[in-house]
Amino acid sequence: MSTQDTKKKDADELLARDEKYVIRPWTGTGEPVPVVEGRGCVIKDAYGKEFLDFTSGYFVNQAGHCHPTVVAAATAQLSQITQVSGRHTTIPLVNLAEQLVELSPKSLTKVFFTTGGSESNEFALKMVRQKSGKGDIMSLENAYHGLSLGVLGGCASEKYRKTAGIELQDNFVRVPTPYAYRHAGDSDCTTFCLEAAEKEFQKNSNIAAVIAEPIQAVGGIIPSQQYWDGMAALCDKYGVFLILDEIQTGIGRTGAMFAADHYGLEPDIMTIGKGLSGGVGSLAGVLASDELVEGFYGGTTPTSAGNAVSAAAGLALIGVLQEEKMIENAANMGVYFTEAVAALKDPWVGDIRFKGLLGGVELVSDRETKAVLPKELVVKVKDTLYEDGMLITVSGLHGNVLRLQPSLCITSTQLDSFVASLKKALDSVRGQA
Ligand SMILES: Cc1ncc(COP(=O)(O)O)c(C=O)c1O
Repeated sequence: MSTQDTKKKDADELLARDEKYVIRPWTGTGEPVPVVEGRGCVIKDAYGKEFLDFTSGYFVNQAGHCHPTVVAAATAQLSQITQVSGRHTTIPLVNLAEQLVELSPKSLTKVFFTTGGSESNEFALKMVRQKSGKGDIMSLENAYHGLSLGVLGGCASEKYRKTAGIELQDNFVRVPTPYAYRHAGDSDCTTFCLEAAEKEFQKNSNIAAVIAEPIQAVGGIIPSQQYWDGMAALCDKYGVFLILDEIQTGIGRTGAMFAADHYGLEPDIMTIGKGLSGGVGSLAGVLASDELVEGFYGGTTPTSAGNAVSAAAGLALIGVLQEEKMIENAANMGVYFTEAVAALKDPWVGDIRFKGLLGGVELVSDRETKAVLPKELVVKVKDTLYEDGMLITVSGLHGNVLRLQPSLCITSTQLDSFVASLKKALDSVRGQA
């Protein structure tokens, strides 16, 4: 058997065993990719095929796959201490907490570490409910705050909420999201959304907090400055806390350390995760204001929270992002990407929404009417890109947004090759439609 044949046999076997033993929440065509290695924005599968990775490990590998500085920091920490009880602490944990407080909006003074984004949001809800004694939480349509039961109700998607298996008694009040591209009606999108939120505050005095992503990751919904000024003012007026979910937007993704920085927001809580430890373990956290920290009773900490190896990696990651100017690169590449896709003048490209390297391209079958491109065609575009070595996902309220979120070290040359592939894919799928 040739080396190539052996590789294929091993890869096929790996996938067969994956199918036999691993529970997957979903699988699309070409999934799962049996990934064996990654460097920067490129990953290689067990068949030897290379992909330019626009998923960055589900948006966690901020400095690229296996950045040598992050790997070295994690490796060094492995032989020092890995996990201690939540009653105790470690050097990387304290250093990381200090850095995060210094880098985040000044309203936030301390960090509670957790092991994942959903868990962080659940602890954030505990904090605001304990402090206010109120139970309800306002969230936005199209939002995603995680799939564990305590935050599931905050996810707009019915598809996700149904995973609870029962009708959720969730205490979430959902209000419109400022999705300007698809807003219809007499008032402008910002005014419409703020008025809808204010009506809810007037009706319901049991709202403890608003939880929202400053920029919605699903579909890349970028609110106006006026929206966030208005929402922050409403929170003040009605005495509710503001929780910013920066699990996906944080750690440089949008071209600023936190998306709150673009808007000058000073939230009461900011939840973080995903890119925090650059793909080394699962580290997440809740940054909170003095008011919320005081008297907070966590019960205990999640067992693996604040893992020292993940914290050392996270600290190294922040250094890499700063030294290699990757956050500036994310901001520049977002603009470059937008212009390059716009230059295609493709009839199926309805809207291009990037803030840094968060967002994507919304596909329509008619640019005038903005009719959503049917799902099967969107999936064909994704699959054609996959064949061409471009790994992406699809998202958005209507499932028609190509979600393009590479690591923050992506280069213009890599983006050029993606845009050339995208053009080929769109032409080819249109040709068969
Ligand atoms: C904005 C946002 N909040 C919360 C979560 C949940 O994080 P996790 O999957 O780590 O629980 C995610 C994950 O995609 C997210 O994007």
